[in-house]
Amino acid sequence: MSKVLVIGDTHAPAMHKKYIPFLGNIARKWKIDRVIHVGDVVDHHCISFHDKHPDNPGAAKEYELTLNQVSQLYKDFPDLTVTIGNHDMRVMRLNAKLGIPKMYLKEFNALYGTPKWKWIEYVEIDGVYYYHGEGSGGQHPAFNAAKMRMQSTVMGHYHSACGIWYQAGPTTKVWGMNVGCGVDRNHWSMQYGSAFLKKPIVACGVVIDGQPFVETMNL
Ligand SMILES: [Fe+2]
Repeated sequence: MSKVLVIGDTHAPAMHKKYIPFLGNIARKWKIDRVIHVGDVVDHHCISFHDKHPDNPGAAKEYELTLNQVSQLYKDFPDLTVTIGNHDMRVMRLNAKLGIPKMYLKEFNALYGTPKWKWIEYVEIDGVYYYHGEGSGGQHPAFNAAKMRMQSTVMGHYHSACGIWYQAGPTTKVWGMNVGCGVDRNHWSMQYGSAFLKKPIVACGVVIDGQPFVETMNL
């Protein structure tokens, strides 16, 4: 059985400055032996179908700022499994739309200098399913996904969702955990959410021997 730290969406270069030290404290507190990042490691604000914020410094500068934050994360968490998020995929999606095969693109590890990281769609540990979180929704997205999958589920993707919800039947119990995220909501790339009443919850998850816990960060 594993002791898993679950890192939420970091959206580099919009990762909160205190997030890595916070993750380090939680990893030590729970004596973690496995680390999962539930995706949206990077934001790709400048390379997307969406409108750009006027304060964006351009795609090349955004890459430089992103690389800086991802390097910090790699330094503290060199053995990481990433369940790939929709923002991580933005360059691939634009590429595919233009009909360019993916062999013309750099792999994530080459692009971000993370040779030991594993980038995959999902991972199962101790019977628990970890993925980015698309295809669900509602007030408790991870719980809804868990009920649809009929399997305990951990996810990110919904930055303002953080918590654990359970359902038990006669012979089994499932739970869903939303781990919040690691973004700084004041960053220029997060300004799309400035009018939303629900704000990002900076937090992470921990799963010990298949049982979930959330840890929130004091901002
Ligand atoms: Fe995200």
